[in-house]
Amino acid sequence: MKIIKTINDMQSFSKQSMRSGQKIGFVPTMGYLHEGHISLVGEAVKQNDCVIMSVFVNPLQFGPNEDFDRYPRDLKRDEELASQAGVDVLFYPDVTEMYPKERTTKLTVQERVNTLCGESRPGHFDGVATVVLKLLQITLPDRAYFGMKDAQQVAVIKGLVDDFNVPVEIVPCPIIREKDGLAKSSRNVYLTPTERKEAIQLSRSLRAASKALSDGEINPERIKDIVSTYLSETSGSIDYVEVLAYPALEKVHVITEDVIIAVAVQFSAARLIDNIVALKSEIAIGV
Ligand code: PAJ
Repeated sequence: MKIIKTINDMQSFSKQSMRSGQKIGFVPTMGYLHEGHISLVGEAVKQNDCVIMSVFVNPLQFGPNEDFDRYPRDLKRDEELASQAGVDVLFYPDVTEMYPKERTTKLTVQERVNTLCGESRPGHFDGVATVVLKLLQITLPDRAYFGMKDAQQVAVIKGLVDDFNVPVEIVPCPIIREKDGLAKSSRNVYLTPTERKEAIQLSRSLRAASKALSDGEINPERIKDIVSTYLSETSGSIDYVEVLAYPALEKVHVITEDVIIAVAVQFSAARLIDNIVALKSEIAIGV
């Protein structure tokens, strides 16, 4: 596996691969890799000739009181895991390489961000959109892989790529979970042992909601009540429970279209998110 640290070298490598007819798959991450990230690499390896992964903890997407400084980092381990998984190039720029000077242009995401994590993390998706657009211009992939763990991120990135005609296919990938259902996350290490046990309530609540939907429940408020009942059994505080159209992320009064049921719970040192997208075809409408 090759490690590239500069934008120039990365772009030259990608241009060369393109010229030799290779399809490039790109997996952007902030490192501290786990099976969730690795599953994206698995998809990318299947569909492309060359797989690039970036590891970059992007300061722009962290709020002033968030965990940028203590975000877990372990490059040696990331290198091993990435290489075992089949990554060909690890792009590992430092902050001054990515943001060398005051930017002359700023990106503001207007739609799909006034709810869920966007509402409680103002500016977060502007930072995500900025770094992803830069990374796409630097790695020049045919396909880029994102986990549905961050479903709002997928919706925002799809909008970004459409708005700016970026010639890349965005490939959403399923959420990878621990055996007990907890969605894998680099932030799970911050949970206390008690919180770790309680955290299974997130996926349980979503499974119950999904069952209610397939049993014919079409009222989003009743779905939210079911979810909240499960979440209130934890010591964490509920940040949000939402049922929204997906990917538009707009409110629905009756569930008759593809929806996302999304939750966020703040524990003592970790904020956990989880979701399921229920497809119209799988909802027993009006039964
Ligand atoms: P990060 O949190 O490191 O996640 C990198 C990718 O891994 C994202 O697409 C995320 O959705 C996916 N992922 C994380 N946990 C997952 C799980 N349990 N199952 C499936 N996929 C999972 O998301 C980011 O980094 C950043 O915002 C980034 C896109 C790199 C921009 O900085």
